[in-house]
Amino acid sequence: MQNKTVLAKDTQFGKEVYEGLTAFPKHLSSKYFYDEIGDKLFQDIMAMPDYYLTESEHAILEEYSSEITQQFAGDGQPFSLFELGAGDGKKTKILLQQLVANKVDFDYRPIDISQNALDQLERSITTELPAVIVNPIQGTYFDTLQDIGKQNGRKKIILFLGSNIGNLLHPQAIDFLQKMTAVLGEKDLLFIGMDQKKHPQTILNAYNDKEGITEAFNKNILKRINTEFRGNFDANKFMHWEVYDPETGTAKSYLVATEKHTVAIADLDLKISFSRWETIHTEISQKYDDPTVEWLTGKSGLEIVTSFSDKNDFFKDYIVKKKTL
Ligand code: AVJ
Repeated sequence: MQNKTVLAKDTQFGKEVYEGLTAFPKHLSSKYFYDEIGDKLFQDIMAMPDYYLTESEHAILEEYSSEITQQFAGDGQPFSLFELGAGDGKKTKILLQQLVANKVDFDYRPIDISQNALDQLERSITTELPAVIVNPIQGTYFDTLQDIGKQNGRKKIILFLGSNIGNLLHPQAIDFLQKMTAVLGEKDLLFIGMDQKKHPQTILNAYNDKEGITEAFNKNILKRINTEFRGNFDANKFMHWEVYDPETGTAKSYLVATEKHTVAIADLDLKISFSRWETIHTEISQKYDDPTVEWLTGKSGLEIVTSFSDKNDFFKDYIVKKKTL
């Protein structure tokens, strides 16, 4: 028999931490912000007035829920409603409710990297919307796209809300959308939320709260490394720093070392030194405009069917389908 214990170094998280912290400049991936503590911090972020994204998209779904569900179910065909990065499903429930009210034949398949988030979501839907059939799937976007592709026959509608795609740089986003195109049939739809370019200060404020919730969210990855890989990061030796480039529309988060020090991560056999003001790049939050979305979808074999925006034009949800030749 082989030893079944998976070494820290051999996990996806372990490999990426090793690579990211031995790279120059250093980086860690924001997809590892989300454990039980990270999920809670992100919920706190979504409740902050400065984090306009959630409220803007919520308003879009409230205002256009009947138009949106008409787009989804107008042809009378039953479908599976997948959701990438479902989180707490608060916004999705607006659509679920509308679909139930219209007696639409569908099932809901939330996908999330966090098993904790999925468990909570399943429980809340069972009590709030008992008519909805829920089949959760745990995994990363890329892994689960494969699963989505395998389940053939039934019409698919894929939700990707909250500008979650914004964590990807354009080349990665195109790669991701191309993989999406590969699993979409003729009748299938992608419903994708994309945060829009706007006053740069509004964007900076969304990622710079004074209470330090966003800072704690970024630092949660250091905490995870400490607990999961026996690291000794001192989060107090780092500060959170946000920049936004209005030309590219890219917001970037950094953890900046405020003093020279070293960190050891026992399970990864790793000792890393930080000089004063050295950075760890942790997250990108890309902002979009229509020409950019047309370019991204076009490059990926997709076309925009229609889009919905809030009254400030802060945020947009696009309905996208496979390009017909
Ligand atoms: C969940 C990726 C959309 O980038 O706006 C919030 C995550 N990071 N505050 C974003 C986040 C800092 C969020 N997304």
